[in-house]
Amino acid sequence: MENRIPLIAGNWKMFKTCSEAVETAEQLARLVANVTDREAMIAPPFTAISLVSETLRGSRVSLGAQNLFWETEGAYTGEISSDMLVSAGCKYVIIGHSERRQFFDETDETVNKKINAAIRSKLIPILCVGESEKERESKDTFSVLDKQIIKGLKEFTSEEMKTLVIAYEPVWAIGTGKTATSDQAQEVHLFLRSLIEKKFGKTLAKSVRILYGGSVNPGNISELMAMPDVDGALVGGASLSAETFSKIVCYP
Ligand code: 13P
Repeated sequence: MENRIPLIAGNWKMFKTCSEAVETAEQLARLVANVTDREAMIAPPFTAISLVSETLRGSRVSLGAQNLFWETEGAYTGEISSDMLVSAGCKYVIIGHSERRQFFDETDETVNKKINAAIRSKLIPILCVGESEKERESKDTFSVLDKQIIKGLKEFTSEEMKTLVIAYEPVWAIGTGKTATSDQAQEVHLFLRSLIEKKFGKTLAKSVRILYGGSVNPGNISELMAMPDVDGALVGGASLSAETFSKIVCYP
């Protein structure tokens, strides 16, 4: 796996009140306190970010957000900027999750603007890509991913992309209990790495971390992580319990 430090990230989606978030973060920080060879991250809902940031201070768990808006400030009711996320303690931001594409009209163009905003504020973007079940069945997986990567990362330099993280989340595997097999994940991750190489060169292709997401749990994480191009996981449902998520973070 070259020198890529594995990243196990928890996307809490629209779950947890402030007190629930703090309690889970506290437990998680305790449970993964001795893990040194990989990074754990959680992305709580916006309302809990500042509180969870305090809770995680000095711990081994990093903090992320689930979305941002690309403008720096202004009359954009209901939106949150990249600098606001940094000031609340975020290191990462998830961009272009399939649920945002599906329910909130996120497009490759808005994803591109959001990634730009993230890197401008020195937030690490986690770009989510993935095909639907229909697209996989009609053998369009690679062309869909190609479009998402090429348009999402349009006009960036390799220097700007040096912290980029990609999350491959096949839509058919999200919240369904249907995980991609480790071979399916490896095949796509290798394809994504080769796309990055074509677009940004060998050095970035070797260093970019590519996470798998979609029904990851303590029972399937080790097999996925054994694949040479799987550098971590983006976990939804199984990240909501500190105990379960810590078992994923601490995979053997
Ligand atoms: P599940 O782990 O619940 O399938 O969700 C995956 C996901 O969407 C993470 O961003």
